[in-house]
Order: sequence, then structure tokens, then C-alpha cells
Amino acid sequence: MSGDSPNSTNSLSEGDVNTSPRRSAWQAEHLDAEARHWLAKDAKYFLHQSLSTPCLNVLKACSGNTIEDLQGRRMLDFHGNNVHQVGFGNPEVIAAIVEQLKELSFSPRRYTNIPAIRLAQRLTELAPGNLNRVLFAPGGTLAIGMALKLARAATGRFKTISMWDSFHGASLDAISIGGEATFRKNMGPLLTGCEHVPPPDNAHCPFRCGAACNLQCADYIEYVLEKEGDIAAVIGETIRSTPYIPPPDYWKRIRAACDRHGALLILDEIPIALGRTGKMFACEHFGIVPDMLVLGKGLGGGIMPLAALLARENLNVMAEDALGHYTHEKNPVAAAAALATIDYIEKHALLENARSLGSYALERLRHLMPSIPLIGDVRGIGLLLGIELVSDRSTMARACDSADDALYRALSAGLSFKLTMGNIITLTPPLTLARHEMDQALDILESSLRAVTPQA
Ligand SMILES: Cc1ncc(COP(=O)(O)O)c(C=O)c1O
Repeated sequence: MSGDSPNSTNSLSEGDVNTSPRRSAWQAEHLDAEARHWLAKDAKYFLHQSLSTPCLNVLKACSGNTIEDLQGRRMLDFHGNNVHQVGFGNPEVIAAIVEQLKELSFSPRRYTNIPAIRLAQRLTELAPGNLNRVLFAPGGTLAIGMALKLARAATGRFKTISMWDSFHGASLDAISIGGEATFRKNMGPLLTGCEHVPPPDNAHCPFRCGAACNLQCADYIEYVLEKEGDIAAVIGETIRSTPYIPPPDYWKRIRAACDRHGALLILDEIPIALGRTGKMFACEHFGIVPDMLVLGKGLGGGIMPLAALLARENLNVMAEDALGHYTHEKNPVAAAAALATIDYIEKHALLENARSLGSYALERLRHLMPSIPLIGDVRGIGLLLGIELVSDRSTMARACDSADDALYRALSAGLSFKLTMGNIITLTPPLTLARHEMDQALDILESSLRAVTPQA
């Protein structure tokens, strides 16, 4: 169970711990016989794993900005696994999928197809710099795996630098570079040469520069690049879902260090590309272009599983070797969904909505700080927002138990969100959210936070 310990594991204390007593209490209060029946079947047939089976509840529908459970209770979904930039069941995405299904539903290897080509072209046109080459995969983790292979092939080196606490997917290669011990537990030997460094996070940083971060964490990456001497790539999430937003020069400094030491820079934007931060790609906020950029999640419109690796032209070096070769690598239906998603984002000005609604929410949340001491920090960019709950603002000790309590209260009141690192309420609503829905969610949050604030 999650506690107030700063050592609480990251993902396992995100309010979906299968054995949490608070979760059982929530289920006792909210689930009817039908939901229990299906949950029991789910638990019977699926392999059990943390954060997954057994599940909290059963869903019946999702549409726009909400999800609906079997009993018809609707919740604003500020979690959505980050697939719902254009909302759930977006009618324009569905129409594109249906049209494509009628014509060409699959494209066997040896052939290409027009939607896949159009999508590849569109992404390269949207992406910054000369990220001119694309490979698709049916999931983010697989695209990360392709990036790691390409980095090896292009540099002739195999070592990587990645960050503690990061997540890049659940396969063996991705957990080797991932920074959460939870995912590596009992997994035996992983990839060798995976160096880890502290992420940019001034409140919990081992370099202790405090609020005025002086980028010692970025300089440390150069130190490791130099000491190791043969690093193939530095890989990081441009902005983690904590969301600690790195100082403006953070990625510039790392970009320059990579160039000096012959290492490639791979940015993982699987959950945040396509507008969440208020720009199409988060790296645009930092004025740098990585050597590879990885997208996924909402790329398939929240319906089709699809991820993409974008790479610089000069990384087109594996013509004679296998880089991806996934069965659905040029799936025309997924490509049609992605094209409709990008069209929708542009046509409905979702980047602007992410920026303006995000600033509005940040301001409202910051106003809560004087009266709710549990809130240690409020931060965000676009519609990637975080409220860090602490038991003591001076030490920023994580208040994981209070966060867990707030999560279940909010769920009861009609708002779903994720906890990151156990104590950070992470809000990632659809970019289609309206102002009155944001108000509704913030009202629920405020009353949940007030209810769990210890009385003086
Ligand atoms: C930053 C990041 N990278 C990679 C992944 C893995 O993506 P997928 O679940 O599609 O394999 C995730 C998924 O949560 C993620 O958040």
C-alpha cells in the first residue's frame, strides 16, 4: 500500500494498487452485482499483474471527454492513458476508420499503401528540423526498441544514458533503460551498458540546486558521456508526466553534449506529442531537434494502436538489416485514424485550447495553495498539469496516502486522474475539454483536496 514515505515506488503507488484497502472500500461502496460478476471473470481469465488485473471497475462506454461505467456513472477522464487528445470516439476519426476499412483494411508486407505514405509525409512535415524518416509500430515500447537498435547501428556503440524514474515501455529493452526498479524486479539480466542519471526535478534532485536549478543534472550527463567515452545515445522523456518542466536550457545543454561526444539524442514523447503541451511536439518548447523522436498513444486517435519513430535523414542506415518489421507497420486503418487525428487537432485549434485552458487551470490551482498546505507545488505546461501533495512544504516529503485518498474521493465525484510518483496528481484531460468541464473537474479536485487535508 502506498504510504507517505519518500521511497514509495513510483507506478505502484499510483492509486491502482490491486491490494489497496482504500480501493476495496471504494469497490464495496460503488459496485453492483453485475460489475462484480464481470470483474470476477476478468480476474479469472487474465494473467494478473500490477496496475492491471484485477481491475477497479468495468467500463461500458467512452465518448468525448468522459468514460462511463456499467452502472451508467460518467466521469471526466483526466487520465485516459494519454490516448485521448481528440477525445474518445471522435466522430471524424471513426468516419476515417470506417471509410478505410471498407477499402483496404490491411496491407501485407511487400506492398505499401497511400494512407501510410501520407501519414509518414505528414509527420515529417510537422516535425521540427530534418526528422525526415519514419517507421511505424503498433505500440510505443516497440518504437522505443527500434530507436535503440537504430542508435546501435548508426553509432557502432551500444551504451545508453537514460534517467532514473523514467518509463519507456514494458519490454525487456525498454525496462533496461527505464528508471523504475518496480519494472525490473525479478527480471534477471537486462541489456548491458544502460547508464542511469538523475532526471531534472529540482524538489527531489540529488544535486540540490533547489528552486534556482543550475543544470548540474544536465552537466552530469556530459560527465558520464565523457567518462564512458562510447555512449550510443542519451534517451529521455522531453517532459516527464511528473510534470517537472526542465529549465529552458536543459535540453540545449544535453543536445550540445551529445554532439561533442558522438552520441545520439532520442526523445520519448509517446504520451505528450500531438499537442498536450500546447505545441505539436514538446521539444519545440526547448528549441532543439533530437536525432530521433518517438510518438505513440494518441497518434491512432485513441482508437487504433499506433506509434512512430521519426529519425534524421542521415540515420537511414539499416537498409540491409531488420529495424522494426512489425506485422502492422504500415496498417492503413491505423494510418487513416492518425491522419484524421492530426487534421482534427489542426482544424479545431486544439493546441491553442491546450495552452489557454492549461494556463487557466494552473492559475486556479495556484490560488488553492495558501489555503491547502497539502499542496506543495502546482506546475504544468499546456494540458499536462501536476499538483504535488506533500506533508511538509519545506522538505517536500511526499504525501502519498493523502493523494491516494484524494484519488478515490474524486473518482466517486466523477473525475478520474492518475497519480505519478505516488503523490503527484497528474491531470491530462482531452485537448477537446471545454472551460465549464475544466471548472467542474477543478471543483471536484478542490473539495477532494480539502477533505483529505489534515486538520491543524
Ligand atoms: C513515456 C512513455 N514511453 C513509452 C511508453 C510505452 O508505450 P506503449 O504502452 O504504447 O508501449 C509509455 C506508456 O505509458 C510512456 O508513457
